[in-house]
Amino acid sequence: MLDTLSPIPTLTYAAKLLSWYDRHHRELPWRVSPSAAKAGKRADPYHVWLSEVMLQQTTVQAVKPYFAKFLERWPKVTDLAAAPSEDVMAAWAGLGYYARARNLKKCAEAVAGDHDGIFPDTEEGLRALPGIGDYTSAAVAAIAFNRPSAVMDGNVERVISRLFVIDAPLPGSKPEMKAKVRDLTPCDRPGDFAQAMMDLGATICTPKRPACALCPFRDDCLALVQDDPERFPVKAAKKEKPVRVGAGFVAVNENGAIMLRRRQETGLLGGMTEVPTTGWTARMDGGTGTDHAPFAGDWEACGVITHVFTHFELRLSVYRTRVPSGEEPVGWWVPVETLGDEALPTVMKKVISQAIPTAFMKH
Ligand code: ADE
Repeated sequence: MLDTLSPIPTLTYAAKLLSWYDRHHRELPWRVSPSAAKAGKRADPYHVWLSEVMLQQTTVQAVKPYFAKFLERWPKVTDLAAAPSEDVMAAWAGLGYYARARNLKKCAEAVAGDHDGIFPDTEEGLRALPGIGDYTSAAVAAIAFNRPSAVMDGNVERVISRLFVIDAPLPGSKPEMKAKVRDLTPCDRPGDFAQAMMDLGATICTPKRPACALCPFRDDCLALVQDDPERFPVKAAKKEKPVRVGAGFVAVNENGAIMLRRRQETGLLGGMTEVPTTGWTARMDGGTGTDHAPFAGDWEACGVITHVFTHFELRLSVYRTRVPSGEEPVGWWVPVETLGDEALPTVMKKVISQAIPTAFMKH
């Protein structure tokens, strides 16, 4: 006889989340839908790896065109491995943090050269590749190879810290959060679970005004029951970034071309393209005037741009001048119409736009 008093089994966290994901997952170009994944289809490891590296830089929306451009030019990891570095850097320009682009290329070369073009299928194997850290190895192992790796990015940290009211501040609380993710990750569909946690963080468990009424964890979330979800994750007080100053010089010749040069290979934005600039000093008192220009000229002040790097804020005074024909460039001349093909980092696009507001408008 049925025991009518036996408790109704509660769904696990993973079961609740996966059922939500089946209905509400985002369609993403590098993703295999849950129904296809259940039928055994796996995402291409090259696509997963490429998208995960890009997603560490910026949002899903911003990554989509870059992802499409990379795949069109380099459909296989072996194509990327064989590509000239300058082309990869130029295609990466705008995503920021160029060390990632250099590491991307090194990793592609290692997969092509040491692994016959096939990505290792374990977290440890992936972790041994150049430029692949804890996050990327776990994400690729889970998403491309369905390994039960604990995948934790900023979105997941937010979900976990709310679900379990983790009061200790980030980054110190990361190991505690990672242990929770490890506990929750199921052996069945770990790849979908990882992606579901990220989708939940991006679409429901948002930093501000989370949509708790729609959340599959609404009955479990301790922050919702006891506290204020927006208070989590708790973060250690931020140190103010130091300010560095300098100047950028936009020289335009009589054909409307701009003088560009290449930054030295090592260091910040190594190997990228720039207009001539001064060094970027930590002093507030020098290096921002036309006496630092690459050549004497009639330099006109155009204002100051600000760009925030990981470790400092840069303020560059911008100058422009017209150069008579015959002036030898310190690098090379590029017509305004083809500036988009150059490996110009965002800070340099800001400098050029400050001097020539129409420079990056579609021609
Ligand atoms: N953000 C970073 N990686 C992601 C992924 N695989 N799915 C959704 N959002 C992400």
